[in-house]
Amino acid sequence: MKSYNIGVIPGDGTGPEVVREAVKVLEVAQRKFGFKLNYTNYDLGGERYLKTGETLPDSVIEEFRKQHAIFLGAIGHPDVKPGILETGILLKARFTLDQYINLRPVRLYRVEDCPLKDKTPTDIDFVVVRENTGGIYTGVGGVVQKGTPMEIATQVMIYGRPVVERCVRYAYEYARRRNKKKMLTLVHKTNVLTHAGDLWARTHKEIGDRDYKDIKQDYNHVDAATMWFVKQPEWYDVIVTENLFGDIITDLAAIIQGGLGVAAGGNINPEGVSMFEPMGGSAPKYTGQNVINPIAAINAAGMMLDTLGETKAAAAIDKAVTGSLNSGKIKSLAAGRMGLGTTQVGDLIAAAV
Ligand code: IPM
Ligand code: MN
Repeated sequence: MKSYNIGVIPGDGTGPEVVREAVKVLEVAQRKFGFKLNYTNYDLGGERYLKTGETLPDSVIEEFRKQHAIFLGAIGHPDVKPGILETGILLKARFTLDQYINLRPVRLYRVEDCPLKDKTPTDIDFVVVRENTGGIYTGVGGVVQKGTPMEIATQVMIYGRPVVERCVRYAYEYARRRNKKKMLTLVHKTNVLTHAGDLWARTHKEIGDRDYKDIKQDYNHVDAATMWFVKQPEWYDVIVTENLFGDIITDLAAIIQGGLGVAAGGNINPEGVSMFEPMGGSAPKYTGQNVINPIAAINAAGMMLDTLGETKAAAAIDKAVTGSLNSGKIKSLAAGRMGLGTTQVGDLIAAAV
């Protein structure tokens, strides 16, 4: 029997609650599809930082390297200054494990969860491939004359051809494997970012012309893309974009699919160790009340299985989520308004698998 080692970071706030439900669903999937998941828990997050000053120690990174995947609940603590845990844990993991793809599927499950007028599940079904280790997130830049009236600060959108190319190639492969519209939309701002944008545009075109003739090439400026997400989301199939633009547009994408209750992300190193997470945060005010929506974490678990190669199990989880959401038993996707508790939603989906 195939077995996989999974590093689990339950994290802060409601993180442990949603991880528990995802594990519940995974337990059923592994029994049914015949594989084994061995979990190792890692105590990381705001609580640990407040106690020990540690975020993500190098020794833990070394242990992560031996896992087949990492599963993360949520990181974030009201008593920790913003930025410390984000850069110290999440971004450190992305960079050191070279998780260069941030994969964010966007699918509306039910008409009533969509804030857009007249859009149905057939209209909202696309995937954003966000570059995940480059650009402004690298932190290249600096500040001079700090605190003076003439202070100057820079943060550079830095991209090398290999980093752009591996991301664009992944996106083309994804569009081919997905086998729907077979269209790859590059989102950038080439009308202003004439250096970095041009590198992306040429890479998108050259690789597409050479190796992916079966995939249509499409382009949107990022500002226009935010309009089209609202006006005509049915246009999209697979989107590829640089890091910060991807960060911004995937929050918009999450809300048109029903919000953070269902939105999941994968930080993927196709040749290494990937990390999967619900997109929502630690939601301190809902902690311990059994009201947070675990579906985003369950979707992240499905994405993890898909990436590990357990595609049948992943498809079964996806089907179970879709079926449960359309069973009429879950009233809303919002925390506290589901009409069921966190554990009951987990039970419902586990039973459907
Ligand atoms: C995300 C988050 C992170 C990001 C933050 C928490 C650093 O917003 O995963 O989208 O900006 O990438
Ligand atoms: Mn974000």
